[in-house]
Amino acid sequence: MTGVAVDRERSAARIESDIEHLSGAAYTRSTDAIRRYAYTPEYRTTLDWFAGELESIGFTVTEDPVGTMVARNRPPGEPAFGVGSHCDSNRNGGKYDGTMGVVTALEVCRLDVEHELGLPLQLISFLEEEGSGFGQMLLGSRIIAQRITEDDLRERFRAVDDGRSFWEHAEEAGYEPTRWRECASVLDGLTGWIEMHIEQARVLQDTHNRIGLVDAIAGYVHADVVVQGRGDHAGATPMDLRLDPTLVLAETAIELERLARAAGRGTVGTIGEIEVDPSLINAIASSVRFSLDIRGPVDDAYRDVAAEIAAFAAHAAEARGMRAEYAERQTLPATPMDERIVGALEAVAAATGEPYRRMHSGAAHDTMCVADRVPTAMVFVPCKDGISHHPAEEADPADAALAAAIILEAIASLH
Ligand code: GLV
Ligand code: MN
Ligand code: MN
Repeated sequence: MTGVAVDRERSAARIESDIEHLSGAAYTRSTDAIRRYAYTPEYRTTLDWFAGELESIGFTVTEDPVGTMVARNRPPGEPAFGVGSHCDSNRNGGKYDGTMGVVTALEVCRLDVEHELGLPLQLISFLEEEGSGFGQMLLGSRIIAQRITEDDLRERFRAVDDGRSFWEHAEEAGYEPTRWRECASVLDGLTGWIEMHIEQARVLQDTHNRIGLVDAIAGYVHADVVVQGRGDHAGATPMDLRLDPTLVLAETAIELERLARAAGRGTVGTIGEIEVDPSLINAIASSVRFSLDIRGPVDDAYRDVAAEIAAFAAHAAEARGMRAEYAERQTLPATPMDERIVGALEAVAAATGEPYRRMHSGAAHDTMCVADRVPTAMVFVPCKDGISHHPAEEADPADAALAAAIILEAIASLH
């Protein structure tokens, strides 16, 4: 233990000032939301700001071959404890998802310097956690974990904005995607990893806790279903002469709710993207694409739902004389956290006298990929009314300051 008394009010003021600064016009592509993602000028400005702050306290800042940022206070290869999150945002995001985690990790680094603790630290800000640039969540950490293929990067993963490949965009931004396998070295020498994040639900708020200690992260399946119907005139085509793919979408949506409820054990299912082609009031669509986001802490439960909904959509389409095709985008298993690190956090949290609880994370996090090779844990802070992936997102810097103090103390206790 450090025995140092952290000035949490000063930490809270710094965290608040950093978050507000990073919500300025230079850091977002939208005037209504925080919108920043890989290889845009706004994302570059954000990384540069973090790099400047970290260099000013003696950290050496580098980026991996595709753009995940790494800052260390020890030479490469020497052991260090990892802290961080991501600073890209959902396309319609708020100020806190991810960014508050990197800002809090920065605060841990600042406190280490100010209190002359000399802890070996490595801060990571992962590339493309939200999938806003290329529709692929946790992209930077999945590259580090080598959970993708070269073909994914060269061909399959395409920019939401212009359809060009991840590879092309990375090269254009000055990175070297040919060296993507070397990204694995980001985790070399890490003795542990703690990511702080807003909770993104309202469990902490409703139970009046200031801190959540995550003991497992839900796994997920991301998939797309494309239903091919027949485009026709919406007025002139009698009801019994139609091949309307939106009806298959409607039936599948209702069935997804039924299946997820029946599966229980924390299973959830969502259709978040719907693309109707053409999208015209006076035309029957010729095709519909919709996404499936199916998650839960129990792998068998949510995976069964994914398999059943794929079969259901195929049958529902067939019964109406159409075809539905299901294609998986990506899947990650549920991830347990490391009991030694969670236990260290819990000992420190209990000693603060502040209310905390253990919980699982329903949202996905880069920590899922870090956990392949490094003992990991996560710390949650409440977000107002559970709102996230939305500009109305709000979290209290005082809670983040408490999290920073707990993380610092837990890392010290583990050394
Ligand atoms: C990550 O942002 C998620 O949707 O879980
Ligand atoms: Mn996030
Ligand atoms: Mn998010």
